[in-house]
Amino acid sequence: MSEIKLSSIAAMAQNRVIGNKDQIPWHIPEDFQFFKKTTMNHPMIMGRKTFESLPGVLKGRTHIVISRNGYDHPEAIGAKSLDEALAKGKELAQQDGKDEVFIIGGGEIYRQTMPIIDRLYITLIHRDYEGDTKFPDFDWNDWAVISEDRRDGDPAYTFFTLEKK
Ligand SMILES: NC(=O)c1ccc[n+]([C@@H]2O[C@H](COP(=O)([O-])OP(=O)(O)OC[C@H]3O[C@@H](n4cnc5c(N)ncnc54)[C@H](OP(=O)(O)O)[C@@H]3O)[C@@H](O)[C@H]2O)c1
Repeated sequence: MSEIKLSSIAAMAQNRVIGNKDQIPWHIPEDFQFFKKTTMNHPMIMGRKTFESLPGVLKGRTHIVISRNGYDHPEAIGAKSLDEALAKGKELAQQDGKDEVFIIGGGEIYRQTMPIIDRLYITLIHRDYEGDTKFPDFDWNDWAVISEDRRDGDPAYTFFTLEKK
Protein backbone atom coordinates (compact mmCIF):
# COMPACT_ATOMS: atom_id res chain seq x y z
CA MET A 1 0.00 0.00 0.00
CA SER A 2 1.42 3.38 -0.99
CA GLU A 3 1.85 6.16 1.57
CA ILE A 4 -1.30 8.10 2.33
CA LYS A 5 -0.90 11.82 1.70
CA LEU A 6 -2.33 14.40 4.05
CA SER A 7 -3.66 17.41 2.16
CA SER A 8 -5.30 20.66 3.22
CA ILE A 9 -7.79 22.32 0.93
CA ALA A 10 -8.79 25.93 1.55
CA ALA A 11 -9.86 29.17 -0.09
CA MET A 12 -8.29 32.31 1.32
CA ALA A 13 -8.36 36.01 0.61
CA GLN A 14 -5.22 38.04 -0.03
CA ASN A 15 -5.23 39.07 3.68
CA ARG A 16 -5.50 35.33 4.62
CA VAL A 17 -9.14 35.60 5.74
CA ILE A 18 -11.03 32.30 5.35
CA GLY A 19 -14.16 32.92 7.38
CA ASN A 20 -16.38 35.43 9.09
CA LYS A 21 -19.02 34.63 11.73
CA ASP A 22 -18.85 30.94 10.85
CA GLN A 23 -19.40 31.52 7.15
CA ILE A 24 -17.16 31.85 4.11
CA PRO A 25 -17.30 35.54 3.11
CA TRP A 26 -17.56 35.03 -0.69
CA HIS A 27 -19.54 32.94 -3.09
CA ILE A 28 -17.48 31.39 -5.86
CA PRO A 29 -19.42 28.44 -7.36
CA GLU A 30 -16.42 27.27 -9.38
CA ASP A 31 -14.38 26.96 -6.20
CA PHE A 32 -17.11 24.78 -4.63
CA GLN A 33 -17.00 22.62 -7.76
CA PHE A 34 -13.22 22.33 -7.45
CA PHE A 35 -13.57 21.40 -3.77
CA LYS A 36 -16.20 18.78 -4.60
CA LYS A 37 -14.22 17.21 -7.44
CA THR A 38 -10.97 17.14 -5.44
CA THR A 39 -12.38 15.69 -2.22
CA MET A 40 -14.97 13.31 -3.72
CA ASN A 41 -14.79 9.76 -2.33
CA HIS A 42 -12.06 10.68 0.17
CA PRO A 43 -12.23 11.04 3.95
CA MET A 44 -12.40 14.66 5.14
CA ILE A 45 -11.29 15.89 8.58
CA MET A 46 -12.75 19.09 9.99
CA GLY A 47 -13.23 21.06 13.18
CA ARG A 48 -16.61 21.04 14.89
CA LYS A 49 -17.31 24.66 13.91
CA THR A 50 -16.69 23.98 10.23
CA PHE A 51 -18.94 20.91 10.29
CA GLU A 52 -21.71 22.94 11.90
CA SER A 53 -21.32 25.67 9.27
CA LEU A 54 -21.93 23.29 6.36
CA PRO A 55 -25.37 23.39 4.72
CA GLY A 56 -25.56 19.64 5.38
CA VAL A 57 -23.49 16.50 5.06
CA LEU A 58 -21.64 16.56 1.73
CA LYS A 59 -22.39 13.45 -0.27
CA GLY A 60 -19.80 10.88 -1.26
CA ARG A 61 -17.31 11.77 1.49
CA THR A 62 -16.87 10.58 5.07
CA HIS A 63 -16.88 13.49 7.52
CA ILE A 64 -14.55 13.13 10.52
CA VAL A 65 -15.44 15.85 13.03
CA ILE A 66 -12.99 16.88 15.76
CA SER A 67 -14.43 18.11 19.05
CA ARG A 68 -12.90 17.91 22.51
CA ASN A 69 -16.01 16.20 23.89
CA GLY A 70 -16.42 13.91 20.92
CA TYR A 71 -19.13 14.47 18.33
CA ASP A 72 -22.28 12.48 17.95
CA HIS A 73 -23.97 12.69 14.56
CA PRO A 74 -25.64 9.92 12.58
CA GLU A 75 -23.80 10.78 9.37
CA ALA A 76 -20.37 11.74 10.71
CA ILE A 77 -17.53 10.13 12.66
CA GLY A 78 -16.53 11.95 15.83
CA ALA A 79 -12.93 12.27 17.04
CA LYS A 80 -11.75 13.72 20.36
CA SER A 81 -8.31 14.71 19.14
CA LEU A 82 -6.42 15.48 15.98
CA ASP A 83 -4.44 12.25 16.30
CA GLU A 84 -7.62 10.21 16.58
CA ALA A 85 -9.05 11.97 13.50
CA LEU A 86 -5.86 11.38 11.50
CA ALA A 87 -5.77 7.70 12.45
CA LYS A 88 -9.42 7.27 11.42
CA GLY A 89 -8.91 9.17 8.19
CA LYS A 90 -5.92 7.08 7.19
CA GLU A 91 -7.65 3.85 8.13
CA LEU A 92 -10.68 4.74 6.00
CA ALA A 93 -8.54 5.82 3.06
CA GLN A 94 -6.63 2.55 3.24
CA GLN A 95 -9.86 0.51 3.37
CA ASP A 96 -11.15 2.30 0.27
CA GLY A 97 -7.86 2.14 -1.64
CA LYS A 98 -7.39 5.94 -1.55
CA ASP A 99 -4.03 7.64 -1.17
CA GLU A 100 -5.16 11.00 0.24
CA VAL A 101 -6.95 12.34 3.34
CA PHE A 102 -8.24 15.90 3.32
CA ILE A 103 -8.16 18.57 6.02
CA ILE A 104 -11.01 20.93 5.16
CA GLY A 105 -10.76 23.48 7.98
CA GLY A 106 -11.35 25.61 9.70
CA GLY A 107 -8.69 27.96 11.01
CA GLU A 108 -7.85 25.98 14.16
CA ILE A 109 -7.48 22.71 12.30
CA TYR A 110 -5.49 24.20 9.41
CA ARG A 111 -3.12 25.73 11.97
CA GLN A 112 -2.54 22.51 13.88
CA THR A 113 -1.99 20.45 10.74
CA MET A 114 0.19 22.90 8.80
CA PRO A 115 3.46 21.27 10.01
CA ILE A 116 2.37 17.77 8.96
CA ILE A 117 0.56 18.19 5.64
CA ASP A 118 2.17 17.03 2.41
CA ARG A 119 0.04 18.98 -0.04
CA LEU A 120 -1.97 22.20 -0.01
CA TYR A 121 -4.73 23.03 -2.46
CA ILE A 122 -5.24 26.73 -1.99
CA THR A 123 -7.58 29.02 -3.85
CA LEU A 124 -6.14 32.49 -3.46
CA ILE A 125 -8.68 35.26 -3.92
CA HIS A 126 -6.99 38.41 -5.14
CA ARG A 127 -8.62 40.88 -2.80
CA ASP A 128 -9.02 41.43 0.93
CA TYR A 129 -12.11 40.44 2.88
CA GLU A 130 -13.21 41.26 6.39
CA GLY A 131 -13.24 38.24 8.64
CA ASP A 132 -12.54 36.72 12.04
CA THR A 133 -10.75 33.55 10.91
CA LYS A 134 -7.50 33.37 8.97
CA PHE A 135 -5.44 30.70 7.28
CA PRO A 136 -2.13 30.25 9.17
CA ASP A 137 0.73 32.32 7.88
CA PHE A 138 3.13 30.19 5.87
CA ASP A 139 6.24 30.74 3.80
CA TRP A 140 5.57 30.09 0.12
CA ASN A 141 9.29 29.33 -0.26
CA ASP A 142 8.76 26.11 1.69
CA TRP A 143 6.38 24.88 -1.01
CA ALA A 144 6.80 23.78 -4.61
CA VAL A 145 4.08 25.02 -6.97
CA ILE A 146 2.70 21.94 -8.72
CA SER A 147 -0.02 23.81 -10.58
CA GLU A 148 -1.34 27.35 -10.87
CA ASP A 149 -4.55 28.29 -12.66
CA ARG A 150 -5.72 31.90 -12.59
CA ARG A 151 -9.35 32.87 -13.21
CA ASP A 152 -10.21 36.47 -13.96
CA GLY A 153 -13.49 37.91 -12.82
CA ASP A 154 -14.89 39.63 -9.79
CA PRO A 155 -13.21 38.56 -7.64
CA ALA A 156 -10.24 37.16 -9.55
CA TYR A 157 -8.69 34.09 -7.97
CA THR A 158 -6.03 31.43 -8.60
CA PHE A 159 -6.14 27.73 -7.88
CA PHE A 160 -2.75 26.64 -6.54
CA THR A 161 -1.58 23.12 -5.77
CA LEU A 162 1.51 23.18 -3.56
CA GLU A 163 3.68 20.40 -2.20
CA LYS A 164 6.04 20.66 0.72
CA LYS A 165 9.65 20.89 -0.51
N1 LIG B 1 -12.37 29.39 3.28
C1 LIG B 1 -12.25 28.11 3.54
O1 LIG B 1 -11.68 27.33 2.76
C2 LIG B 1 -12.82 27.56 4.83
C3 LIG B 1 -12.82 26.18 5.05
C4 LIG B 1 -13.35 25.70 6.26
C5 LIG B 1 -13.84 26.60 7.21
N2 LIG B 1 -13.82 27.92 6.93
C6 LIG B 1 -14.31 28.90 7.92
O2 LIG B 1 -13.54 28.76 9.11
C7 LIG B 1 -14.33 29.15 10.24
C8 LIG B 1 -14.28 28.05 11.28
O3 LIG B 1 -12.94 27.89 11.73
P1 LIG B 1 -12.57 27.91 13.29
O4 LIG B 1 -11.10 28.01 13.41
O5 LIG B 1 -13.41 28.93 13.96
O6 LIG B 1 -13.12 26.50 13.80
P2 LIG B 1 -12.82 24.97 13.34
O7 LIG B 1 -11.35 24.78 13.16
O8 LIG B 1 -13.73 24.59 12.24
O9 LIG B 1 -13.35 24.18 14.64
C9 LIG B 1 -12.82 24.48 15.89
C10 LIG B 1 -13.29 23.43 16.87
O10 LIG B 1 -12.65 22.18 16.58
C11 LIG B 1 -12.39 21.50 17.79
N3 LIG B 1 -10.94 21.32 17.93
C12 LIG B 1 -9.94 22.09 17.41
N4 LIG B 1 -8.75 21.55 17.72
C13 LIG B 1 -8.99 20.44 18.44
C14 LIG B 1 -8.15 19.44 19.03
N5 LIG B 1 -6.80 19.49 18.94
N6 LIG B 1 -8.73 18.43 19.71
C15 LIG B 1 -10.09 18.35 19.81
N7 LIG B 1 -10.93 19.24 19.26
C16 LIG B 1 -10.38 20.27 18.58
C17 LIG B 1 -12.99 22.33 18.91
O11 LIG B 1 -14.34 21.89 19.02
P3 LIG B 1 -15.13 21.92 20.44
O12 LIG B 1 -15.31 23.38 20.73
O13 LIG B 1 -16.42 21.20 20.14
O14 LIG B 1 -14.26 21.20 21.44
C18 LIG B 1 -12.93 23.71 18.32
O15 LIG B 1 -13.86 24.61 18.91
C19 LIG B 1 -15.74 29.41 9.69
O16 LIG B 1 -15.89 30.80 9.45
C20 LIG B 1 -15.74 28.67 8.37
O17 LIG B 1 -16.67 29.22 7.44
C21 LIG B 1 -13.32 28.42 5.76
